[in-house]
Amino acid sequence: MSQAPGTTLDAAARYHETGWYAADFSLDHRSVSALRSRITALGEQRRPEVVQEKEGGATRAIHGCHAWDDLCAALVGLPELVGLAMSLLGGPVYTYQFKVNFKQPYEGAAWPWHQDYAFWQEEDGMPRPDAVNIAIALDHAHEGNGPLTVIPGSHRLGLLDLPASDTRTGDWRDHVSSDLAYTVSPDRAARLSAELGTELLVGPAGTVHAFHPSIVHSSTDNLSPDRRALLLITYNAVTNAPAAPARPDFLVSRDIAPVTPGADARLTLRQVR
Ligand code: SIN
Ligand code: MN
Repeated sequence: MSQAPGTTLDAAARYHETGWYAADFSLDHRSVSALRSRITALGEQRRPEVVQEKEGGATRAIHGCHAWDDLCAALVGLPELVGLAMSLLGGPVYTYQFKVNFKQPYEGAAWPWHQDYAFWQEEDGMPRPDAVNIAIALDHAHEGNGPLTVIPGSHRLGLLDLPASDTRTGDWRDHVSSDLAYTVSPDRAARLSAELGTELLVGPAGTVHAFHPSIVHSSTDNLSPDRRALLLITYNAVTNAPAAPARPDFLVSRDIAPVTPGADARLTLRQVR
């Protein structure tokens, strides 16, 4: 099993206990600036992978741009990120999804309480939740700009509030807008939060967190003047690829070859602890 530099052996134990993990490395300032300029430009393109907010039309997210942008492609191969994913999943991984969620100042809309694995199981046929989200803050994520909020330990409860009958809409837009197709009810989320607490995944630009596909999470509207761009790479175990996914490639990658780790002179992760 590969060990990410600076990742202690108990990282996996802590991740599997709580469903999230704060990496002890962070992207440096120069790398953040390069990525920030790149994703800002990509977000201005008009193509299916670039999704707008329902209200106002600001760019909400970019999906799958590692497939057409060289800097994003280099990011997914960084040895520290691949090593962390492999440490947490226990074997080789491939890139299942790549996205940037923007949360523009004042306009960025909430993500209701949900579990990512509900989408990946129900829509794509992912066999097990043996994937991991690596979340990289490209802007300072703070209490005021709608940071990701997780309910620690909720990933161990399995999928919650799945509809009894088949609700597949066939429209992937229901998986990327503020009206998500699979949500955890507000009542249940309130009960779980009271029982298990909540954790805000905040930190300066460059901060890296990992979180489990089944953890219950949400984020609020961005009512602040600060953008909150969050880049999310989902690595999946190569043994856990869906057999016959139907959604577009930019939401569920067909390329299940293990990621080949490789450093890139434009992108540097530094130890922060
Ligand atoms: C967010 O960007 O706040 C939500 C991300 C997610 O649900 O994966
Ligand atoms: Mn999610």
